[in-house]
Amino acid sequence: MKTTLMALVIGIGMLAVGTAGAVVTQEQAMALIKDKKMDCMACHAIDKKMAGPSWKDIGVKYKGQAGIKGKLIEKVKKGGSGNWGNVPMTAHPNVSDADLGTLVDFILTLK
Ligand code: HEC
Repeated sequence: MKTTLMALVIGIGMLAVGTAGAVVTQEQAMALIKDKKMDCMACHAIDKKMAGPSWKDIGVKYKGQAGIKGKLIEKVKKGGSGNWGNVPMTAHPNVSDADLGTLVDFILTLK
C-alpha cells in the first residue's frame, strides 16, 4: 500500500515536471551561454533592464501561457521588437532550438 502511494506521488511529480518544462538553474543557463559564446548578456540581465527587458520581467509576463516556449524560441531566432518597446533584439539564426529551449525554460522559471 505504502509503495503504491509512493509510486503514485513520484508519477505525479514527474508529470508536473514534464508539463512545466525542464528545471534549468541559473548556473546551468549561464554555463551554456558561456560555453556556446552566446551574446544574450550583452543586452539582458537577470533582474535589471538593459537594452532588453530583464529575464525576470520576461518570466513574469509569460509564465503559464500555452505554447509560449516555441514562440519565444522563434522570437530570439528571428529577433525584432514590439513586445517591450521599439528597441529590436538582434536575430540569432545560428543558435540551436535545443539551446534556446534551455534558456527559455530557465527564463520561465524566474519570478
Ligand atoms: C542586441 C541586444 C539583444 C541581444 C544580444 C539579445 N536580446 Fe533578447 N531582447 C532584446 C530586446 C530589445 C528585447 C525586447 C523585444 C521586444 O520588444 O519585442 C528582447 C526580448 C527577449 C525575449 C522576450 C521576447 C518577447 O517577444 O517578449 C527573450 C525570451 C529574449 N530576449 C531572450 C534572449 C536570449 C536567449 C538571447 C541570447 C541568445 C538574447 N535575448 C539576446 C535585446 C537583445
